[in-house]
Amino acid sequence: MTGAGGMPDPGVPDPGKPDPGMPGTGIPGTGIPGPGMPEAAAMSGTAIRIEGLRKAFGANQVLKGIDLTVSTHEVICLIGASGSGKSTLLRCLNLLEPISAGRISLWGQEITAAGIDQNLVRRSIGIVFQSYNLFPHMNVLRNVTLAPRKALGTPRLQAEEEARALLSRFGLLDKEAEFPDRLSGGQQQRVAIVRALAMRPQIMLLDEVTSALDPELVAEVLDVIRELAAAGMTMLIATHEMGFARDIARRVCFLEEGRIIEDAPPAELFTAPKDERTQRFLRRIIAAGRL
Ligand SMILES: Nc1ncnc2c1ncn2[C@@H]1O[C@H](COP(=O)(O)OP(=O)(O)OP(=O)(O)O)[C@@H](O)[C@H]1O
Ligand SMILES: [Mg+2]
Repeated sequence: MTGAGGMPDPGVPDPGKPDPGMPGTGIPGTGIPGPGMPEAAAMSGTAIRIEGLRKAFGANQVLKGIDLTVSTHEVICLIGASGSGKSTLLRCLNLLEPISAGRISLWGQEITAAGIDQNLVRRSIGIVFQSYNLFPHMNVLRNVTLAPRKALGTPRLQAEEEARALLSRFGLLDKEAEFPDRLSGGQQQRVAIVRALAMRPQIMLLDEVTSALDPELVAEVLDVIRELAAAGMTMLIATHEMGFARDIARRVCFLEEGRIIEDAPPAELFTAPKDERTQRFLRRIIAAGRL
């Protein structure tokens, strides 16, 4: 699938062929609940386990051995300077980037193992980027229903009913017939989140979803994320919004040069960071008036 500019659009799962019988059956041979499964909220235990993850682009070692465990329903914020590897980590997790070493497991099943159907894994992980990547030639309802219809084979009326329920939950029901260019940035980003949710993912990855927005539009998107957290969605969120991270995250991970330097509850990390590098980063953030 390609996005508006002809670029691959990772914000939408590749619809591919419908998977007959997918909803409710999980990802074949993996034990990972598949997209369309309502049982996600009832899941428990370790959702994501990342072990020794390394990623290089050519000679550039970007991730230098990441170990991270995320419990089901947990919300973790990734913070760190530009270039520290936050986006790369999220993209590796969603299998949008092949990893150089290490492994990633979801609910005990390794997704980086040979023979795993990557498209199926991707469909159970929603990812939303800074640039919303909505299809400009489709109205909101079609943007939201496209992937469930094509990838899950959800019948149109059912997909529309589910889409309307999500749009209504996030205050967008009156926008279903609008085209993206008639929406504000905040509304477009909320539609992008709804579009990812329409696949009923078990995990949501959010990459700087507020950075392209005017300050007055940030709050409405953060409210959506808060709602998701309250509903028990397991989330990994890369963000420069320190106040938000402090507010919403159960744990905050500070990355520097491809390593997690500190991983602590926000109350601890933001007020009494242990590592000198975290302290230095936070001093810069405070000096810039961003905390
Ligand atoms: N597709 C790519 N090809 C080559 N290098 C890449 C690619 N994607 C990322 N990198 C490099 O990986 C490093 C980490 O980038 P990444 O985008 O993960 O950082 P980040 O922490 O998300 O930064 P920001 O806060 O600016 O979003 C950078 O040095 C970047 O140049
Ligand atoms: Mg980034």
